[in-house]
Amino acid sequence: MLIKRRADIPSSEITPESIYLKRREFMTRSGLALTAAAMPAGLLAQDGTPLKPLTAVSATPAMSAQGFYTAEKKTPFDDVARYNNFYEFGTDKGDPARHAHALTTDPWSVQVDGEVGKPGNYALEDLLKGIDLEERIYRLRCVEAWSMVIPWVGVPLHKLLAKVEPTSKAKYVEFTTLVRPSEMRGQRSRFSTIDWPYVEGLRMDEAMHPLTLMAVGLYGKELPNQNGAPFRLVVPWKYGFKSIKSIVKIRLTEKQPGTTWQRLAPSEYGFFANVNPNVDHPRWSQKYERRLPNSLFDPNRIKTQMFNGYEEQVASLYKGMNLRRYY
Ligand code: MTE
Repeated sequence: MLIKRRADIPSSEITPESIYLKRREFMTRSGLALTAAAMPAGLLAQDGTPLKPLTAVSATPAMSAQGFYTAEKKTPFDDVARYNNFYEFGTDKGDPARHAHALTTDPWSVQVDGEVGKPGNYALEDLLKGIDLEERIYRLRCVEAWSMVIPWVGVPLHKLLAKVEPTSKAKYVEFTTLVRPSEMRGQRSRFSTIDWPYVEGLRMDEAMHPLTLMAVGLYGKELPNQNGAPFRLVVPWKYGFKSIKSIVKIRLTEKQPGTTWQRLAPSEYGFFANVNPNVDHPRWSQKYERRLPNSLFDPNRIKTQMFNGYEEQVASLYKGMNLRRYY
């Protein structure tokens, strides 16, 4: 993804039926706890503080017809939390894990505006209140051709949008990441090619799809900062750059929003960014991916699947669309 311009850039009360969020604490009195296997004990954030456990309503079946769980081997936590793209903290894969501990994630508020009946600046816990946390085990396929399998914890975006009451004019959802150069060293870098804030967008039907998740955790714990704490998007059938991190703004619009990578390199990164092995990136093939963990000697190369393996669930959203043109 890196666009190098300079040679020197280094590569509450507990409600009886539901789970809710209180100042970064996720509590439950009902629902199934995550299985012990899904929840390795003692995961630490990069600064050494323990990550708080979360409790989700869903158990983890091996597979699901809706695509909510894959039986594929999960990528170990260490790889998920140490090999990241989060340019707000630097462009090297290790930079987010090295530097994202500087980010303050509590308190956190999310501005919801545009075509909604209930706009406002919501405390994150209020926005999520009353919506059960769910576990989803999704494949994540980066446009750079590496991939992972991650057990997320979060809420379906359609449930969150229902709370803020989209109007009939709402056709797209625009998401914006925090701008805080004092804590995000990539935003103060003079080598940065990105015009902050990082912005992403979805068509309304994509946003309302049951697979689209707003994640607050992974591996049964709150999100490590480098993975987009405290609140990020996960759209498993699209290239990873759509899954915007550390979101502070959700805006519903009539017009298609401009997005960061599309603005930066429109011939390389489209608005739709659906995983598609038949449409190559101009600079590399998308037919295969390197599943983490891997190494030089064992690249763990696997075939990329149409819509990242979620074709059955999402192909109907793009019926009749020329996917070469709308990449
Ligand atoms: N969100 C923000 N705000 N900034 C970023 O640089 N990188 C994207 C996406 N979300 C990015 C972002 C890219 S390119 C990918 S592949 C995924 O985050 C990576 O998510 P992960 O680091 O949790 O695996």
